Amino acid sequence: MSYDVGAVRAQFPALRSGTAHFDGPGGTQTPASVIAAIGEAMSGPLSNRGGALPGEVNAEEIVRGFRQAMADLLGADPGGIVFGRSATQLTYDFSRTLSGTWSPGDEVVVSRLDHDANIRPWVQAAERAGAVVRWADFDPSTGELSPEAVGAQITGRTRLVAVTGASNLIGTRPDIPAIARLAHGAGALLYVDGVHLTAHHPVDVERLGADFFVCSPYKFFGPHHGVLAARPELLGSLRPDKLAPSTDAVPERFELGTLPYESMAGTRAAVDFLAGLGAGADAAGGRRERLRSAYAAIDTHETELRESIEKTVGELGGVTVHSRAAERTPTLLLTFEGRDAADAYRFLARSGVHAPAGSFYALEASRHLGLGDSGGLRVGLCAYNDTDDVERLLTGLSDWLS
Ligand SMILES: Cc1ncc(COP(=O)(O)O)c(C=O)c1O
Repeated sequence: MSYDVGAVRAQFPALRSGTAHFDGPGGTQTPASVIAAIGEAMSGPLSNRGGALPGEVNAEEIVRGFRQAMADLLGADPGGIVFGRSATQLTYDFSRTLSGTWSPGDEVVVSRLDHDANIRPWVQAAERAGAVVRWADFDPSTGELSPEAVGAQITGRTRLVAVTGASNLIGTRPDIPAIARLAHGAGALLYVDGVHLTAHHPVDVERLGADFFVCSPYKFFGPHHGVLAARPELLGSLRPDKLAPSTDAVPERFELGTLPYESMAGTRAAVDFLAGLGAGADAAGGRRERLRSAYAAIDTHETELRESIEKTVGELGGVTVHSRAAERTPTLLLTFEGRDAADAYRFLARSGVHAPAGSFYALEASRHLGLGDSGGLRVGLCAYNDTDDVERLLTGLSDWLS
């Protein structure tokens, strides 16, 4: 059966408002099943985790279900799934813990393609440890961050390489397995920002070679928080700051305070929602298999819409599309000759089309593209966009330009 975008849209109460959402890279809307799962978690008895009473068992089951769902999504071990307030918070926490073992003269590699969430925590941690920060540059003319460009910054002193799985500004998907081989060859750890990638592509943390992988469920139809995946043995070798009476078990060691069970229940439901979007949704087979089929269906749908936008935008004149890498997500960054992208955003907003303008915290990338701090107009597609959304966007852009 082909991808039924109408049936997908019907599951999102927020889409009834009539807004055409191209702001998915900033955060997606929420399907009814996720909203229901959050409500159910809070409607049943819910206590601190334990095994004797229903409220304790419910909390325990929610945590177990969350870790298993995220493990299925990322090809990870459920025992290495860490809940966090956001990808930013997780990266700050891990940068502080990891840099505790760095010495003056050690090195860390960051990339100019990244969201600042995978740059600044490492830069600041390196400053405190007296470590050297080395910058890997992408090619602004192609948008590509090559493994060679990252490899050129890796030396025998490199302790960590931090790189994005996909750029939230221009969509570029660097060759992470190749970068992982270079990092590991030098004895360094690889920290991958998978926030934008996970919304569009199936992830296998082992195949990627990521020692640490962060993502944020609110970018793929879930609640607002972050998740980190790592091998339980690696997590077990790290000593984060924690309260004296809190457990030393992994992954709980990294999860400070009482967990927000309702968000975890919502994230499990978001993974199930995603898994239900593929042709094999009703087929027997595990959730991971269904997720693979779903990502393939979403990719075909998003690519079709992306290509139709690219074709028309290319004909409009005076529009530059900065998203050009061979492997990329359906996220387009546009700028306009002699016109301000923020004006386009405001004009489109008047007709209920949400395509935001800015550099979206990918400050280094925006500057490296020659766009300063203001970036451009970001058009992000996701599973619920349809041809009507695209027509409204293109008509709006054409009206604004003329
Ligand atoms: C690529 C990328 N990394 C990191 C982040 C930060 O994620 P969070 O809001 O979960 O901290 C974002 C948010 O937009 C992002 O797009």
